[in-house]
Amino acid sequence: MQPITLRKALPQDALCLAALGIQVFLDTYATEGIRDAIAQEALESFSPERLSKVIARPGTLITLAEIGDHLIGFAQVAMNSNHERITSPRAGELQRLYLQERFTGQGIGCRLLEAAEQQARLDGASLLWATVWAGNDRALAFYPRQGYEHFGSQPYTFQDETHENQLFGKFL
Ligand SMILES: CC(C)(COP(=O)(O)OP(=O)(O)OC[C@H]1O[C@@H](n2cnc3c(N)ncnc32)[C@H](O)[C@@H]1OP(=O)(O)O)[C@@H](O)C(=O)NCCC(=O)NCCS
Repeated sequence: MQPITLRKALPQDALCLAALGIQVFLDTYATEGIRDAIAQEALESFSPERLSKVIARPGTLITLAEIGDHLIGFAQVAMNSNHERITSPRAGELQRLYLQERFTGQGIGCRLLEAAEQQARLDGASLLWATVWAGNDRALAFYPRQGYEHFGSQPYTFQDETHENQLFGKFL
């Protein structure tokens, strides 16, 4: 396999980010098949237009993992993103950590997360937090292994559906 390279996202990456985002979102959350809410969320959240705006948004850090000129995963952090249960004044939110299924279990998620943490620290964050769907067993096991503390559960709402999520955080 060619080496994996990490780099910051550029405006022209929106198309591939959108496609990969839909793929990983559905693999992860459409565990019982596709319903309207899931389809709507995937197509709205991961349109190229939406991703172009996310890439350009001040305070958003997107790190890509690539093999050659192919995107295989990305991490997305929003700086200065507060959470009611997080008291740290300079918190960043890990909004997405997405890896194509065929590249999981090889340490790439760990590398992407470390790169995202390093970038957030350089930009002034003292803590990174993330919420994980209670049905995502692999991610629930992944974050504590990367040094994340469990801060409890909380509801998460999308498209009028509410699901239980778990909140994790790590001091950088
Ligand atoms: C959750 C996710 C980011 C984790 O990334 P990952 O690349 O699979 O995780 P890693 O490979 O870094 O670590 C997982 C396992 O691989 C092992 N591993 C690490 N380096 C390795 C290497 N070089 N070779 C083989 N295995 C390795 C780790 O030890 C770990 O093993 P364990 O589960 O037995 O402890 C990824 O599975 C993913 O994107 N999932 C879909 C989307 C998702 O759920 N995102 C999180 C939303 S909150």
